[in-house]
Parts: sequence; C-alpha cells; structure tokens
Amino acid sequence: MHPEAAPPESEPFGRVARREGMTRALIIGASGGIGAALVAALEAERVQVTALSRRDDGLELTDEASVATHLGALSPGFDLVLCATGALEIDGRGPEKALRQLAPEAMAAQFAVNCIGPAIVLKHALRLLPRDRPASLAVLSARVGSIGDNRLGGWTSYRAAKAALNQVVRSAAVELGRSHPQALCVALHPGTVESALTEKYLARHPAVPPPEAARRLLAVLEGLTPGDSGGFFDQHGKPIPF
Ligand SMILES: NC(=O)c1ccc[n+]([C@@H]2O[C@H](COP(=O)([O-])OP(=O)(O)OC[C@H]3O[C@@H](n4cnc5c(N)ncnc54)[C@H](OP(=O)(O)O)[C@@H]3O)[C@@H](O)[C@H]2O)c1
Repeated sequence: MHPEAAPPESEPFGRVARREGMTRALIIGASGGIGAALVAALEAERVQVTALSRRDDGLELTDEASVATHLGALSPGFDLVLCATGALEIDGRGPEKALRQLAPEAMAAQFAVNCIGPAIVLKHALRLLPRDRPASLAVLSARVGSIGDNRLGGWTSYRAAKAALNQVVRSAAVELGRSHPQALCVALHPGTVESALTEKYLARHPAVPPPEAARRLLAVLEGLTPGDSGGFFDQHGKPIPF
C-alpha cells in the first residue's frame, strides 16, 4: 500500500492567475512528471522558464561539479527556483517494506539523490535569487518524510532522506532570511501524483495527474509569505509536521 496519506481532493484549484510579478523561473528536474508539468504551467502564464534535467541537459544531482556547471552558467534574477528531482527506486532497488531489507548502499543512494543532491542545488541556487524583491526557493519533499506523521513505518531510507532534506531546507531558510529578507525557502509535498516515480506503488491509492499537482504547488507558493520560510507544506498549503 502506498503510505502517502493524501487528504481528499475536495476543492481543485481553478485556473491559477498569472504569478504576481514573476518573470523568470528555474525548474530543476524538468524531465520528471511534476517538473515537466510545472514548466508547462508556468510557460502557459508567460513566465520565462529555464528547464534543467539529467535526461535533457546532463545535470547529475549526485555530482556537485555537474550542478555547479549548470547553475553557474545561469544569470541571476530568478523569482522562483524549484527543485523537482527525486527518486523512490534507485538502480532497481525500491523502498524497503521492513527493517530487515535495509541495505547500506541503497540507503546511501537514497540520501545522495533525495537529500544531498537538492542540498547542493540550494547551495548553488543562492546566487540566482534577487536580494531586493520577493523570490521563492522550493524543493519537492514528501509527506512520508514527516517524522511526526509516520504511523505506517516502512520506506525507511526514502523517509529518512526526505526528513533530512526538510532539515536542510530549514537551515537554508534561516540563512536565506539574513541575506534575502523577502525570500521564501520551503519544502513542498506535491500530493500523490501519477508519475514514473509512483507507477509501481500506487495500487488503488488515489492520485492526481501532474498538471493538477503543478497548479496546486504554484498556488501554494503564491499564498506563502517570507514568514512561512523554513516550513514544510502540502499541496493544499497546509503545514506538515516535521
Ligand atoms: N509523485 C508523487 O506522488 C510524489 C509524492 C511525494 C513526493 N514526490 C516527490 O516529488 C518529486 C518529483 O517526483 P515525480 O513524481 O515528478 O518523479 P519522476 O517523474 O520520477 O521525476 C523525477 C525527476 O528527478 C530527476 N532525477 C532523479 N535522479 C536524479 C539524479 N541523480 N540527477 C538528476 N536528476 C535526477 C529525474 O531526472 P531524469 O528523468 O532526467 O533522470 C526526473 O526529472 C520527487 O522529489 C518525489 O520524491 C512525489
């Protein structure tokens, strides 16, 4: 069973208005289900989007030199930098159902992709954010990374890597608040979404298509303020306990 405890999808957002004041966005992981939908949603609103991915651009998250090269080539001034990368299954190893299946290499790979990679992205994205106007730095985390919300167990490596990512985001937000007082740095849960990541794990769990997830995530970001920086929010803008 898929352990994401998504709330009922009662009130889908209607068409999201053009992002207030947003002209440039950077989506990392643009080849993914949610990443591609975010690019499409922003482009439909005439936002100038820079889309980066491993598949199309060779951006390898687990290699800092690759992240530094790709992000270092961009000129600053992004209103939104969103890291939509992540993996549930790495090198054919899916999430563990029980502690006895825990393998150190698989767990290290989970941390490399789901925590250290996005942390390195945050590091190299700092210089891309304006200091004199609002901007958002966001990463896709997962509700299963919530320690307070963990009642089912299992998926230990993925859960732990996302929990660690949430801590990275929290620290980054504190630091960003000093240098970029109008900026926001948050971890977002996209909901349960139909994508390559979930296709083997959904079973009968309800999931939304990526365009709907993208619309919701952008609406959540639009509703947050710098005071929300460092938080962990679901697809409805509701805080998730760490
Ligand atoms: N789908 C859901 O229901 C769900 C629920 C909770 C959280 N999330 C989170 O949402 C995020 C996006 O998920 P998704 O459903 O869109 O998954 P997806 O369709 O599988 O996309 C994953 C993206 O991550 C990229 N990626 C993976 N490993 C990478 C690496 N080593 N270097 C560079 N890029 C890498 C992939 O790039 P390539 O395709 O180029 O390899 C792809 O762009 C993930 O963080 C996931 O944990 C998803």
